[in-house]
Amino acid sequence: PVLVVDFGAQYAQLIARRVREAGVYSEIVPHTATAAEIAAKGPVALVLSGGPSSVYEEGAPRLDPAVFDLGVPTLGICYGFQVMAQTLGGEVANTGLREYGATDAALTGDGGVLLGGQPAEQNVWMSHGDQVSKAPEGFEVLASTGATKVAAFGNYEKCFYGVQWHPEVKHSDYGQKVLENFLHKAAGLANDWNSGNVIAEQVARIREQVGTGRVLSALSGGVDSAVSTALVHEAVGDQLVAVFIDHGLLRKGEREQVEQDYVASTGVRLITVDARETFLSALAGVSDPEQKRKIIGREFIRAFEKVQADLIAEAAAEGDPIRFLVQGTLYPDVVESGGGTGTANIKSHHNVGGLPEDLQFELVEPLRTLFKDEVRAIGRELGLPAEIVGRQPFPGPGLGIRIVGEVTADRLEILREADAIARFELTQAGLDGEIWQCPVVLLADVRSVGVQGDGRTYGHPIVLRPVSSEDAMTADWTRLPYDVLSKISNRITNEVREVNRVVLDVTSKPPGTIEWE
Ligand code: XMP
Repeated sequence: PVLVVDFGAQYAQLIARRVREAGVYSEIVPHTATAAEIAAKGPVALVLSGGPSSVYEEGAPRLDPAVFDLGVPTLGICYGFQVMAQTLGGEVANTGLREYGATDAALTGDGGVLLGGQPAEQNVWMSHGDQVSKAPEGFEVLASTGATKVAAFGNYEKCFYGVQWHPEVKHSDYGQKVLENFLHKAAGLANDWNSGNVIAEQVARIREQVGTGRVLSALSGGVDSAVSTALVHEAVGDQLVAVFIDHGLLRKGEREQVEQDYVASTGVRLITVDARETFLSALAGVSDPEQKRKIIGREFIRAFEKVQADLIAEAAAEGDPIRFLVQGTLYPDVVESGGGTGTANIKSHHNVGGLPEDLQFELVEPLRTLFKDEVRAIGRELGLPAEIVGRQPFPGPGLGIRIVGEVTADRLEILREADAIARFELTQAGLDGEIWQCPVVLLADVRSVGVQGDGRTYGHPIVLRPVSSEDAMTADWTRLPYDVLSKISNRITNEVREVNRVVLDVTSKPPGTIEWE
């Protein structure tokens, strides 16, 4: 793989995704990895990420200098560029000249293999206080900006390159081109990582792991469980049974999507458990968000265990126990839980499929190396319904955490209608690509006065929470066109009973989380 060395602050994941978009498989390693550990992974190239520190600060993240003796093509980005310069004998200084945001960069000479063929002037995205004041020996300066003489450099012989700007962000005009030039031209790597060969590779891997064993999968209706289940089905066919638990907290039409469209397109053997009553009674009288999450998580496990017991008994009677469980774990989860940076537990996340530890199953996790956009591409390649593959992220606890207040059947009905209208209008307006997700929230404990027809009303507000994001870790509220907001608002207040007001959430994350609970 191409190894992306992580110097912190989540830049590495974006770089790893861009490398894969260039058709080359990538993985992330922490900057604390030693040269031997890095060599053991057989890297075909290294990319050193940006980071929030200053290279000459006490305790600033470093890289084992022996990494530069491995003979592997290396690209340094921002902080990684400075680490490279400093380690190889150049100089990094704080000149008091800072550059943030869009900056003009000018090529020096022909720009070398990294920037060659690009316009002499280009717009790049900067975010730095320090700068490389002197390139190490053997390096040629490839670009500069008003404030930074050495904004990019290269050592052709060693195949070491660096840029002060962030080629991984879309605001850098030729950013992706810089990465592609490094990967394909400088390092000579082929563009051959795509969803077709990921499927073939995973199918082979699953067959090897599972053999003739039986596999159980929990479908939530979301993208990850839908694609991981379909992949396993592709690999082992009817050795797989999928379970779908209808907890009554689903959105309009979701159960039908799974039971009809998904099954029709995959041929997966599906068992639906109708647990709506059980969940509702367990949630009666509860309005505390954390308590709701815990109850939903617990009831989910109970419902799953019940059907699992039946299936196990059936399988055992046939002399062939169920030994495997499918999980839709994605690469960011793997990186984040292995990163060991101790991210605070802001909310107790419950993933449908997040099952108790004492289950005696071996996990099958075919998406462990993949990012969300790759999972979607694979889903499309496998022929899954577009509504499922294109679905926005939806929390495991479902609409249960989008009703502020107690969850009741009646309130769920109201929220489902409002949510369906918002989703329909956003899709109609062609905005699905622009928003990451748009939670629709019912403030069930709030009432406000309105006037509808000739009468006074005293109803509930619905909140629209459209956000744009790359990874849900941070998000900004999406500036939806007023006419679309107006359409949604009119339709919801006209068509959904008990709702007399629609409000827009204009908070970024942080400080607000995406969901309200
Ligand atoms: P927050 O609200 O923490 O949400 O900003 C970040 C992303 O995670 C989703 N989310 C959840 N997903 N189980 C899930 O599977 C959960 O308990 C859960 N809570 C939030 C949320 O929709 C957003 O995409």
